[in-house]
Amino acid sequence: MSEQQANNLDKSDGHPSGDERYLAIDRTMKRFKYEQDALLEVLNTAQESMGYLSEDLLIYISQQLQVPRSQVYGVATFYHMFTFEPLGEHNCIICTGTACHVKGSNRIVQALTEEFEIGAGETTSDGLFSLTTARCLGSCGLAPVIVMDGDVHGKETPESVKQQVLNIIVLTKEKLSQKAEAG
Ligand code: FES
Repeated sequence: MSEQQANNLDKSDGHPSGDERYLAIDRTMKRFKYEQDALLEVLNTAQESMGYLSEDLLIYISQQLQVPRSQVYGVATFYHMFTFEPLGEHNCIICTGTACHVKGSNRIVQALTEEFEIGAGETTSDGLFSLTTARCLGSCGLAPVIVMDGDVHGKETPESVKQQVLNIIVLTKEKLSQKAEAG
């Protein structure tokens, strides 16, 4: 551990920006005594606290753990659970692992891409929907598998997924306009 990291251990929690979401990240780094091996754990905490890994955040982690920035980016981009843009209100993860690919998951991706005019890893301009892909979601027997807002659904088709997303977006728009009317 470097002198700076030892000093960090004595400091009270808190990022210079005053953004309290950094507290959980600082605590995780402290828990692991700023060991470089803690990188994956710290990235996990960062993703959970912030919802995505911004460039500033990756630089902060690189400085605090004294891990080269290239290594932080390398680990962050290797794992599909990390995202680099804020996600939309709703998120659909489509598995493109082998079993799901064989069962046509790419056609689901294509259907959503055409309908919402976004690619994998992107969010619609109204911020309501993000499309994400993953390598294997661990439920291959249900292929093709999607995770819609945290819920796993199996044996999906392009039409069924498109309809689910359209329904959820309509509901959200209705709720938003009711809120706006209520003032
Ligand atoms: S390949 Fe899709 S869940 Fe395993």
